Amino acid sequence: MFASLFLITLSLMPFSFLMATGELTETTGANGIVEVHVISARGLKGVDKSGTSDPFVRLKVGKDHSKTKHIKKSLDPQWNETFKFKVTEAPVGLELDVKDHNTLSSSIALGSFHANLWDILKVQPGQSAETEQWFPISPPGSGEIQIRLVFSP
Ligand SMILES: *[C@@H]1O[C@H](CO)[C@@H](O)[C@H](O)[C@H]1NC(C)=O
Repeated sequence: MFASLFLITLSLMPFSFLMATGELTETTGANGIVEVHVISARGLKGVDKSGTSDPFVRLKVGKDHSKTKHIKKSLDPQWNETFKFKVTEAPVGLELDVKDHNTLSSSIALGSFHANLWDILKVQPGQSAETEQWFPISPPGSGEIQIRLVFSP
């Protein structure tokens, strides 16, 4: 009963590739390099006393990770930073965790976007591909993040 309700809810989601349970879809891609351009975000939550945040993004692609610099006091930050990752044709987890930077204490989660990279970036073996999109940050109401993905075989 609950399981079937859950499945119906999932199938109604506009972004059918969102990983509700942390599990990847089975979509495959191609071997190569993916550049992740973390462009900007908008409508982030303000968690600091000033009502703003100092947002940065922790990225994970497959098993590799990296992070952007933090932007001070902004709910609509522009990072304009690029990261390169080696990827394989197997399903690749793309995780973007938006966090509020704190100098003296640990960072605070502002929300995240998780997907199988190959559900966003459609590739053909031997060919390059590119997409630039806004994605909703979960939980709902946490804003959106804009990224460009460039695949090179
Ligand atoms: C980010 O890139 C956009 C487009 O190239 C540019 O308009 C903007 O000024 C850049 N922002 C920063 C903070 O570098």
